[in-house]
Amino acid sequence: MRPIVLATSTITSFLALALGAAGCRDIAPEASAASVDEQAASAPDRGKPDPVVLDAAAMVRDGRRIFRFDTFGDEAFWTDVLRLNEPISRVSPRTALAVGLKVDVEALPKKVVSDLRAGRVNLDDPAVTLALLQADAVLGVKGVVEGGRLRSIGITCASCHSTVDDSLAPGIGRRLDGWPNQDLDVGAIVSLSPNLQALADVLSKGGTPVDVDTVKQVLASWGPGKYDAELNLDAKGLRPDGKASATVIPPAFGLAGVNLHTWTGWGSVPYWNAYVAATQLRGIGTFFDPRLNDAARFPVAAATGLGDVRPGPGKEDLITPKLGALHFYQLALKAPPAPEGSFDPALAARGKALFAGRAKCATCHVPPLFTEPGWAMHTAEELAIDDFQAKRSPDERYRTAPLKGLWTHTKRGFYHDGRFETLGAVVDHYDASGVGNGGTPLGLGASEKAALVEFLKSL
Ligand code: HEC
Ligand code: HEC
Repeated sequence: MRPIVLATSTITSFLALALGAAGCRDIAPEASAASVDEQAASAPDRGKPDPVVLDAAAMVRDGRRIFRFDTFGDEAFWTDVLRLNEPISRVSPRTALAVGLKVDVEALPKKVVSDLRAGRVNLDDPAVTLALLQADAVLGVKGVVEGGRLRSIGITCASCHSTVDDSLAPGIGRRLDGWPNQDLDVGAIVSLSPNLQALADVLSKGGTPVDVDTVKQVLASWGPGKYDAELNLDAKGLRPDGKASATVIPPAFGLAGVNLHTWTGWGSVPYWNAYVAATQLRGIGTFFDPRLNDAARFPVAAATGLGDVRPGPGKEDLITPKLGALHFYQLALKAPPAPEGSFDPALAARGKALFAGRAKCATCHVPPLFTEPGWAMHTAEELAIDDFQAKRSPDERYRTAPLKGLWTHTKRGFYHDGRFETLGAVVDHYDASGVGNGGTPLGLGASEKAALVEFLKSL
């Protein structure tokens, strides 16, 4: 593949210009490749920056900023309605880290970093939390501090879809955009709100009265690394068997080439980004999907007009103009390769052959996307699982999960609700159910199962 006909050094320098030094480090190609230089020698526009590449770099830069820092005006919900700024201003950094919030070491002043290293920062002092927020160092949380008070709080995509590399301490390190935050206990954080009645009121609009205790019970059922992005459509807080109806927070990397997004294939990346920004973060903007007007399936959505959200009279749309760059940025985030030494390469190679062959995995998980190009949707019956979550979505199916970067999210289980605790349990499920094999059990031996698991760890 040789899409760029310019000297690598030129590309590097104008990407650097477009992105700023920090951003450039993440996406600039390795400055080597003599063959690229040879192509450049014969290129008619040698020396001139390619406007398409420049635009792409600008989109990545804008998208990154939106992904990390843009609240879409959702302070109107998290501050004005839920009043979360009040309890958060009393939370110690130790507690904030314990509920899974992450701290970006690169946003901290040098002095604070050296104090943290030396153990000179009082992690039990809520004033430190305010200082971290003021430095824009808490991933996905935008706080405005005024006169020692937390005046407002807003949430961004980075809260759930990024983490840090723990390079300074657990929960404190360099940003890893797109990685799911497996530690973030969204339910625990939301339940700090002094106005949970507002959530109870919204959920009650579906026709069945919901009280604050029920809201608390539902929020407590989620646990770390999970969230329910459909609760305010259907008020299905718990499954009929009493288990949580939350889903595992998936990665927001490795999505280029994947057609449908979310566990149940709600739509494309820009579809879902508009959905989340308008109906979950409750930012100010537009979202349109008349499928949500179906009062039988989505009683709360239908009653609260989530199928046709507008910014409101006289208000600027803070979502729609950002969808392009936000989409572009997510497509630019590749799944990170599995670290050397984290899997056995020989065993993984055997697993690869089984994946494509006798175990029939690759019929659905088509490499290198590891989902089907096209409409990658399957019924619960085809997967030999229950249909609870599938039935909460428009197409009533599960999407073939893209498997790249599985190694980054092994803590909260696998499948949409994390029902399989280990990859071994996933393989056992396919082996026994014969999913993809016409229902005939695969009959894999123990060493074959181990090989498949090793291959999954290598993706
Ligand atoms: C409170 C946590 C949370 C926040 C904040 C959040 N997401 Fe998500 N995201 C989730 C969960 C949970 C899912 C899975 C939803 C489902 O399948 O029903 C998801 C799914 C996704 C997917 C689909 C991934 C795939 O495999 O197809 C994308 C893309 C995504 N989110 C992007 C975003 C963007 C962009 C934002 C900011 C506008 C955002 N998310 C904010 C929790 C969150
Ligand atoms: C009929 C299509 C189909 C076949 C065949 C299939 N899968 Fe899947 N796979 C899916 C779907 C759909 C999901 C998402 C399930 C959900 O959302 O709960 C999934 C999910 C997974 C997951 C969980 C991903 C995550 O992020 O939690 C793993 C791992 C996996 N499959 C591995 C395999 C292996 C290994 C095989 C072969 C033994 C296989 N699959 C065969 C469709 C298939």
